[in-house]
Amino acid sequence: YNTMAARNSGNPVKKVPIHLQSSQNRLIIKGAKIVNADGMTDGDVFIEDGSIKEIGKNLIIPGGTRTIDARGKYLMPGGIDTHTHLQMPFMGTKSIDDFYIGTKAGIAGGTTMIMDFVIPEKGESLIDAYQKWRSWAEDQVCCDYSLHVAITWWSEKVKNEMEILVKDHGVNSFKVFMAYKDVFMLRDHEILAVLEQAKKIGALVQVHAENGDVIAENCKKVLAAGVTGPEGHELSRPEEVEAEATNRACMLANQVNCPLYVVHVMSKSAGNVIAEKRQQGAVVFGEPIAAALGTDGTNYWNKCWRHAAAHILSPPLRPDPTTPGYLMDLLARDDLQLTGTDNCTFSSEQKKLGAGDFTKIPNGVNGLEDRMSVIWEKGVQAGKLDPCRFVAVTSTAAAKIFNMYPQKGTIAAGSDADIIIWDARKTRTISAKTHHHATDNNIFEGMTCHGVADYVICNGRVCVDEGQVKVLQGYGRFIHRAPFSPFVYDLIREKDARRAAALKPVPRSGYDGEMVSIAQQV
Ligand code: URP
Ligand code: ZN
Ligand code: ZN
Ligand code: ZN
Repeated sequence: YNTMAARNSGNPVKKVPIHLQSSQNRLIIKGAKIVNADGMTDGDVFIEDGSIKEIGKNLIIPGGTRTIDARGKYLMPGGIDTHTHLQMPFMGTKSIDDFYIGTKAGIAGGTTMIMDFVIPEKGESLIDAYQKWRSWAEDQVCCDYSLHVAITWWSEKVKNEMEILVKDHGVNSFKVFMAYKDVFMLRDHEILAVLEQAKKIGALVQVHAENGDVIAENCKKVLAAGVTGPEGHELSRPEEVEAEATNRACMLANQVNCPLYVVHVMSKSAGNVIAEKRQQGAVVFGEPIAAALGTDGTNYWNKCWRHAAAHILSPPLRPDPTTPGYLMDLLARDDLQLTGTDNCTFSSEQKKLGAGDFTKIPNGVNGLEDRMSVIWEKGVQAGKLDPCRFVAVTSTAAAKIFNMYPQKGTIAAGSDADIIIWDARKTRTISAKTHHHATDNNIFEGMTCHGVADYVICNGRVCVDEGQVKVLQGYGRFIHRAPFSPFVYDLIREKDARRAAALKPVPRSGYDGEMVSIAQQV
């Protein structure tokens, strides 16, 4: 137990008995091309007790150490999925991938850590909701996890609980919704209050950027016109509804100089807003998801209802088929910074809740298992990302922004041994028939991707072994994240200083002319 506890002080004691890991507590991976966000080297990686101990050539290692031959393959930090909703109660049902199945699917595809969202109900204590999510995840997760917390209502109590979560519970990110009117949506003055508090306590505000008022009105019109199928979803919330909210969120954050993180960037125009704001110096980060990089909104017009409904999420995929390539270009240029999935899966039976009314189709798609392959295929294989940029957008940027670096997000001595050995020559074809998700549909059905995770190592444990998935339920730990991530708040501090300097009165002599008299109101 000791090394685990020491590596992650403040965490509850590790639940997995050490004997379950000891047979594999030493591992050497030989001959790989080691890829980090800032460069590639050839060498061997020695792992002991869950962390990377040494990197180099001709390392002297203890006898009995397992050797993995990785010649001709890439060795990279495991993926960090910044955005999942496992077993989330939503729209009258619950997403079908639970913390066991979801993390298992993620590991199968090369993801070694997830960040899920606690979503308190209106009026519910944030701490209570957080404890509920912890209890759901704790004995289920196969890989490390962390939690963002959503702010779905506002009060003094919520404000205080944000601070408690940051100080005592390892949370440094809070999501606000500008959509889902009457459910999760906050008004601008409430979002401002969240931003003010987040800045004070060193947290990052994440935003679901869509104009909820406009969507509510449009839904009525689209249904009244007789459009009840999945295409109504996109018709009621087109691109500009996302772009407007993205711009408004950036403006609100900029007014209080609080860092902002736009989750699930789904359209060209929302991506452009973020790119432009960043050029103007705003501290804003954009997260496109696997769905938007791998497929598009033409699927909503598919003649098969089940097919179309499987693609429903918010904001929607865009019917412009050049959108995925455009978002990948933004990612390549660092106009967008990192990727998640918004994995929130529902079976076709669950999607059926919206059979006669698209507004009742549970919102959410898969991605956790396939994100790494989809981004490799559409990014690296397509010649848009080099392997270093691939690592940056799938792992390193997440670790930095959410303040887990260098424990996570890099191959370095002292870092957690969250590692994938990736064979870029192999291909696989994605299908619901073979995936590890609990759902019967897959939005990437039939897509062939280069890049297969031959080995996936979580905290030193081989969880995919020569392509065989060998996960351990409850093995993952909760990762505490400290506030004031330097990769985020250093920029904020500099801007604060500049703004304070600019905020000074002009010294001038008074105006001594006559002043008009205002008539007394009776
Ligand atoms: O459709 C989606 N995105 N479902 C999950 C909830 C959210 O807004 O992230
Ligand atoms: Zn959202
Ligand atoms: Zn179909
Ligand atoms: Zn989400």
